[in-house]
Amino acid sequence: MKFLKRGMLLCTVLTFLLVGGCGPADEAPPDDDMTEEETAPDEADAQLIAEGEAVVQKNCISCHGENLEGGMGPALHGLSAKYTPDQLHDILVNGIGAMPGGTAGGQEEAVIAYLLTLD
Ligand code: HEC
Repeated sequence: MKFLKRGMLLCTVLTFLLVGGCGPADEAPPDDDMTEEETAPDEADAQLIAEGEAVVQKNCISCHGENLEGGMGPALHGLSAKYTPDQLHDILVNGIGAMPGGTAGGQEEAVIAYLLTLD
């Protein structure tokens, strides 16, 4: 009985070694090209700028001209040389001279991002 048990144990171990020998080595390496939902900074900027352009087309061209070349209000090109983004924010929220405040309708950030792309 003792002998038989030992024999079975040996058998089991041998089988395990033989069968298990070529097992775990084949594990595939983790797949690396996980495309997470992360937007590249450039893409985020482009989206913000596009939003800003839409707002400007809707809310600003009546006074600043269809191509923002100026109308009742001054041209809106080259603003980056004249104002900081903070100053532009202030102008949009509070207005300036004859221009009323709030024309960006709460989308100041997008509007400013767009304005700063205009040379
Ligand atoms: C009701 C007409 C009107 C609308 C609408 C309007 N503006 Fe103006 N805006 C003006 C006038 C007039 C001025 C000049 C004010 C002054 O300096 O006395 C001005 C000035 C500005 C200035 C300062 C320009 C400079 O060179 O000093 C910026 C920037 C500006 N507007 C951006 C915008 C944007 C962006 C929008 C839309 C979100 C907008 N404005 C909508 C009339 C308007």
